[in-house]
Amino acid sequence: MLLQLSTWTDIETYLERSKAILIPIGSTEQHGPNGLLGTDFLCPEIIAGKAAETADMLIAPTFNVGCAQHHLAFPGSISLRPSTMIAAMSDWIASFARHGFERLYWFNGHGGNIATIGAAFAEVYAGSSFSRKAGDGTELALKSKNWWQLPGVAALCREIYPVGDGLHATASEVAVTFSAYPGAARQVEMSPKIAPLGEFRDALHYRSQFPDGRIGSDPSQAAAADGERIVAAAAAALAADFKAFASGSQSGSQSGDCCGN
Ligand code: NI
Repeated sequence: MLLQLSTWTDIETYLERSKAILIPIGSTEQHGPNGLLGTDFLCPEIIAGKAAETADMLIAPTFNVGCAQHHLAFPGSISLRPSTMIAAMSDWIASFARHGFERLYWFNGHGGNIATIGAAFAEVYAGSSFSRKAGDGTELALKSKNWWQLPGVAALCREIYPVGDGLHATASEVAVTFSAYPGAARQVEMSPKIAPLGEFRDALHYRSQFPDGRIGSDPSQAAAADGERIVAAAAAALAADFKAFASGSQSGSQSGDCCGN
């Protein structure tokens, strides 16, 4: 169930049976020579949409611009400062809490967001800790999960792309987007075949280290059929994880600890 295709009465009815909502979150940034600029927000959006075909899940509009300052030397990339993103996430959270949502599952597609999502959660929890009267019974649980860290997903990606899946503009994330948007799929010769690994600071430094945008990957391997397998596995794992969180059997947490994508 998509929030943007619902009416306010639909949401009021949903709140009578669940206080949980899923928010896809990602980034709009370069993804190498054949990856779409929307890759990091499209992946969680696609997987969540697939999961919602069979599970009772309410999905919010996608938070589709994140922390991507290091990609700004590539045209089309858009970034928020961490402080802006914390403020925006806090306002989204306050809006959902205002309606009675208590369990917010942020489903992430961008490694560069992880630290700031954790900081946003800390900001919200700090506000609650400073202001809330003891024993008022209200609980706001925030959880973040990176799609590639859902159970079984990393192993499947390694099985499909044992060489050159990489860390940025990965073959697996590009395949996921090609499966949902086959008309946008394209073949581009990569040189070198597998991009270098390394570290980066700001946008100009990143581009000097990774001239075509990739890190450690060969996304020319990406195929829509592979993406369909990844989406199916991730959607099944997401539906189970969201159900457990929505039921209260998970307490909420901050982001995963792995970078990439
Ligand atoms: Ni990515």
